[in-house]
Amino acid sequence: MSDHASVLNEQPDKIRFVLDGEIIEISNVDPTRTVLQFLREDIYRTGTKEGCAEGDCGACTVVLAELNRDGDDLSIRAINSCIQFLPTLDGKELITVESLDAGGELHPVQKAMVDCHASQCGFCTPGFVMSLFALYKTNANPTRREIDDALAGNLCRCTGYRPIVDAAQSVQNVMPGDDWLRQPFGRQTKPVQRVERLQGLRRQESLRLVGRDKSFFAPTSSDELSEILAAHPDATVLAGGTDIGLWVTKQHRELNMVVYTGHVDALNVLDVSATHIEIGAAVSLSNAMVVIVELYPDLDELFRRFASPPIRNAGTLGGNIANGSPIGDSMPALMVVGTSLVLRSGSDTRELPLDEFYIDYQVNALRPGEFIERIRIPLPEGNAVLRSHKLSKRFDQDISAVCTAFRLQLEDDRVASFRMACGGMAATIRRAYNCEAEVVGRRWNDETVSRAINALKNDFVPISDMRASAGYRLQATQNLLRRFYLESCGEFTETVYSYGRD
Ligand SMILES: Cc1cc2nc3c(=O)[nH]c(=O)nc-3n(C[C@H](O)[C@H](O)[C@H](O)COP(=O)(O)OP(=O)(O)OC[C@H]3O[C@@H](n4cnc5c(N)ncnc54)[C@H](O)[C@@H]3O)c2cc1C
Ligand code: FES
Ligand code: FES
Repeated sequence: MSDHASVLNEQPDKIRFVLDGEIIEISNVDPTRTVLQFLREDIYRTGTKEGCAEGDCGACTVVLAELNRDGDDLSIRAINSCIQFLPTLDGKELITVESLDAGGELHPVQKAMVDCHASQCGFCTPGFVMSLFALYKTNANPTRREIDDALAGNLCRCTGYRPIVDAAQSVQNVMPGDDWLRQPFGRQTKPVQRVERLQGLRRQESLRLVGRDKSFFAPTSSDELSEILAAHPDATVLAGGTDIGLWVTKQHRELNMVVYTGHVDALNVLDVSATHIEIGAAVSLSNAMVVIVELYPDLDELFRRFASPPIRNAGTLGGNIANGSPIGDSMPALMVVGTSLVLRSGSDTRELPLDEFYIDYQVNALRPGEFIERIRIPLPEGNAVLRSHKLSKRFDQDISAVCTAFRLQLEDDRVASFRMACGGMAATIRRAYNCEAEVVGRRWNDETVSRAINALKNDFVPISDMRASAGYRLQATQNLLRRFYLESCGEFTETVYSYGRD
């Protein structure tokens, strides 16, 4: 019996996390119990609300503080508690709306919400307060755009957003650097003490919660992760849980064995080498996007429109790729820039181009027990033009009807290389090989682009569903290719929606 098969017989471990300065220890927990269920049903902290239970409305927003990569400071981020599984809190500090009650006085963001009349029925208010609290702790002077972005995952159906944005603007520069949080015996705790407390919770060993029917493992090394998956190839690999959370809350699926990647060192790498951006599969979308957008600024709008900050703070690029939704937003752009995946199974690793990863609807090239260790994105090349366009009904927090990406390299006026990939057009995200072949080697002009637009019919036969009809999808994708052509010629430069004032 392998080590990891034998752990099934060991004593169950405990989850340990900080709440209001106290260390909470929990054993015998269903590994897929959500943080929201724990708050509302186990400890009766009902300030945090449930609206949708699928990460869409933000009523359940809480804040997590955890050690940064160097382990010497706190990283603060808002997440959706309705789809976050409780064991993933291990080693972190949980901050809820009740935590802001420091001795009966309102936190500055709460006071601003009151002063600006930013609440009516109040159901959404705790979620807005927590998103604003996370903004306040991380950005002392946000622009209007940053405020809009920070609130993109919070829905209010009765107040309207203007007073809430006013509240966000009025709170700037109030008590910067405070540590306004409820602590034991009403004491204020300095940030350094909070760091030390989390340092004290760091584990040398992996977390293993073993119940009669369900178990949860949080290995710390890639070796251990691969051993567990070799012994249990049917286990569910859990990263941010922003897809998997809904399997539980909406589809009521039972997950008997969950293996969490969040603590695995090698999967948390985020580096830029001489040739590639190297992104561990457990790096959050928020952290990965900062580095990607720095090197590929044309992807800024795409990533700003990817879900909402709480989803991007929990979700990972690895999860987006492995989940392989035909309308996943990151993959078209990653495909056209030539991204590859480092896959690991046992002690073997192999590198596979992303455009060879998808086989059919929800079928990918991962072998039993194999997992994504790292995503390798080549650095930009000199004169290549890159764009990715997401079409959805709303700007923020919406699923794409179609999502396209283009990468063009010209030599003089001839096309040296052209790649196009599309989401929402087939059972998987795919390159438009027929369309690409019409273009390469030809002059980049109106005639060539018209031929390519025509060839798209041979690449895709889209379906009709609630997001868009087949006809719309094909026409819109053809139009986006025309738009890319105009952008590449500099004729139409407004590629970013202007909204909000800076
Ligand atoms: C409200 C909401 C809005 C969303 N908006 C968008 C959007 O705009 N665009 C978009 O593309 N997606 C969106 N999503 C989907 C989701 O957020 C993304 O797919 C996200 O990147 C998933 O990452 P995760 O870490 O949460 O994955 P998880 O839910 O943890 O896992 C997803 C899948 O990947 C597998 N997996 C995870 N890591 C690995 C690994 N290392 N190796 C092998 N398999 C692995 C899991 O087993 C599972 O099958 C949204 C989701 C929600 C709830
Ligand atoms: S309850 Fe709606 S996002 Fe969590
Ligand atoms: S105040 Fe009622 S939903 Fe926002």
